[in-house]
Amino acid sequence: MNGQPIPVIIDCDTGVDDALALLFAVRHPGIDLRAVTCVAGNTDVDGVVRNTLTVLEQAGAGDVPVARGAARPLVEAPRSARHVHGHDGMGDLGLPAPARTPVDVDAVTLLRREILASPRPVTLIPTAPLTNIALLLRTHPEVTANIERIVFMGGAVAAGNATPVAEFNVWHDPEAAAILLTAGVPITMYGLDVFMRVVVPASDVRRLRAASEPGVRLGGELLAHRGPGTEEDPAGGLGDAGAVCAVADPAGLTTRALPVEVSLAPGPTRGQTIVDLRPRPGESEIHGEAREQPLVDVALDVDEERYVKLWLATVEG
Ligand code: BDR
Ligand code: CA
Repeated sequence: MNGQPIPVIIDCDTGVDDALALLFAVRHPGIDLRAVTCVAGNTDVDGVVRNTLTVLEQAGAGDVPVARGAARPLVEAPRSARHVHGHDGMGDLGLPAPARTPVDVDAVTLLRREILASPRPVTLIPTAPLTNIALLLRTHPEVTANIERIVFMGGAVAAGNATPVAEFNVWHDPEAAAILLTAGVPITMYGLDVFMRVVVPASDVRRLRAASEPGVRLGGELLAHRGPGTEEDPAGGLGDAGAVCAVADPAGLTTRALPVEVSLAPGPTRGQTIVDLRPRPGESEIHGEAREQPLVDVALDVDEERYVKLWLATVEG
C-alpha cells in the first residue's frame, strides 16, 4: 500500500457475500470506508439495513454512517434472492439484532453528502442492484466531479445467473445499470466471469469458523453458507468481496476497455450486459447502424489465489 487510504463508499444489498465485502473493507488499512448505503436486492431494504449494521458491528467498524435506500428497482417489482442468501438475507445464521442505527437521511442524500465532503475523490463500490446509484446520478450529477471511479459487481461477459444471459444485480434493475454505464466516470465491471472464480478453500473456512474473534468467525460461517462447498467440504466463494479486493489491489485483476450495453428489451435478453469483444468494426458499424457505447474496464481475468490470500490476511489480521 502506498500513501493515503482510498476513500470508499459501498452500496450493497447485504447479502452473504456483501457481508464478506464489508468485513474486508472495514479491516483493510488501504481503505477508508466513509459510508455504506443499502438497497433492495438479496432481501428487502429493511433487512439489508439490519444485516449491514450487524456486520459492521461484528467487524468492529468505527462510526461508519449507514443509510436506507431504494425499496424497489426503478421500473421492475423487487425480486429477492432469499433462496441463495437465506430468509434473512444472511444465511439464517441467527445473528443478533444490531445496536447501531442508520442515519436519518436516505441513501442518495448520504451518498451526495459524503462524496462532496471527501477531501479526495471517492471510489464507489456498488455490490447490488444499481438503483441508488442511478437515482444519485440523476438527482445530483455534480457528484461525478468528486468520484475517482466506480467498481461495480454486476454483469457478465459470458453466462448469467439470474437468467441464462443476465447477472442478478443488472437483471434486478436494468435501467439503473444503463444509467450507471453512462455516468461519465471511469467504470470497472467486476462481472460473473471473475466473481465465480475466487473461492476460499475448505481448510481455511474451517479455521475461520473455529476462531474466537467475532468478525473472523462470522466470515467463516458466511463462507460455509455460500458454497460451492458442502458441510463436509465447506469451500466458499468471496463473491462481492472480490470487487473490494480489486480496489485494494488492482494488480490482481486483468481488465480491458470495451464497449458495454445493457439490454433493456423485454424478453429473454433483458438485463444482459452485451460486451463488444470484436477486434474490428462489424457489419453494424459499416452500415452506420451502430450506437456509440461507453467504454468500460471489463474484468476478464483474476488472480484467484492472490485475492483469497489478501482477504484472509486482512480479515484475520
Ligand atoms: C450478485 O447477486 C447477489 O445475489 C450477490 O450478492 C452478488 O452481488 C451476484 O450475481
Ligand atoms: Ca450483493
